[in-house]
Amino acid sequence: MAYILAIESSCDDTSAAVLNNDTLLSNLIASQKVHQMYGGVVPELASRAHLQNIVPVVDTALRSAGIGLSDLSAVAFTRGPGLLGSLLVGVSFAKALALSLDIPIIEVNHLEAHVLSHFIRTPEYYHAPDFPFLCLLVSGGHTQILQVESPSSFTTIGNTIDDAAGECIDKAAKIMGLPYPGGPVIDRMAKEGNPDAFKIARPRIPGLNFSFSGLKTSFLYMIRDYLKENPAFIDENVNDLCASVQKSIIESLLDKFMQASRQTGIRQLAIAGGVSANSLLRSRLEEEGKRHRCEVFIPPFSFTTDNAAMVGMAGFFKYKEGIFSDLSTAPYARSK
Ligand code: KG4
Ligand code: ZN
Repeated sequence: MAYILAIESSCDDTSAAVLNNDTLLSNLIASQKVHQMYGGVVPELASRAHLQNIVPVVDTALRSAGIGLSDLSAVAFTRGPGLLGSLLVGVSFAKALALSLDIPIIEVNHLEAHVLSHFIRTPEYYHAPDFPFLCLLVSGGHTQILQVESPSSFTTIGNTIDDAAGECIDKAAKIMGLPYPGGPVIDRMAKEGNPDAFKIARPRIPGLNFSFSGLKTSFLYMIRDYLKENPAFIDENVNDLCASVQKSIIESLLDKFMQASRQTGIRQLAIAGGVSANSLLRSRLEEEGKRHRCEVFIPPFSFTTDNAAMVGMAGFFKYKEGIFSDLSTAPYARSK
């Protein structure tokens, strides 16, 4: 019986979670509001906010799990990829705490953690895929299709050649003057809009790779042209613009994901990462899954954007195998 404390600090959310084996006991997330006024994450401000947040967040996660420091079996942490200054806070904290408690540390890859979030057990919810399954991992920094053979075997079979889907959504929001992060705002406004009001170029690249920079540029130019004729164009059409750009991005994600299923013959399809919170992606994947007789795995909202519960889950898989890290472990910014 293991109690794992997990820490996630790769970007702009400070999160701590406690798991008892694969069962989630607590999952605390302190979001950093400081970035909103800049329209994106400012790395230096993010690491400072992590420093302020980490102790209270860990303390609250332990209290709400109803356990004390001496009950912990190991500390799992995100080693990368992410912002170095942000990762450094979580990594250093995990090492120092584990050293003082004389328990092992477990490094976790942030992207693998997003994928493994499907195995978290809660009293209300458990719906985990069997291996192998395909995972569409869509976040602010990544857009990939992964073939997952086991908790430690991930093959990237599709990847973006330029922007990530979340990055594209955030930039589209910025073009329209909407706040950061744009994903939740566009999702909400799109519900009131007509997704076929504006034709936005869909990426057409061969194979399982994605490209979003052309879509973003055509959105920008389209708005610029309309604004020349009508300075109030964005205000008057914002819901339709949100619905149209969202449809274009989500349908191109789904096209490739269903193509990957056909190519590999794998019919268990999971989504993960911040963009998997998108309501259109969730409902369209359900539809496509039914149509193609695939089983779909859609995570609860709390496990879509960055959270420490998923880090704890990935950590528990390693804990079971006795895979620990040593205290010389340093964070890394990019996937390796
Ligand atoms: O996984 P995540 O929290 O952080 C990264 O690892 O990048 O993903 C953040 C991304 C942002 O681009 C945000 O706009 C997007 O997820 N996002 C959404 C929604 N909620 C968050 N995109 C579309 N619809 C949403 N409901
Ligand atoms: Zn993430």
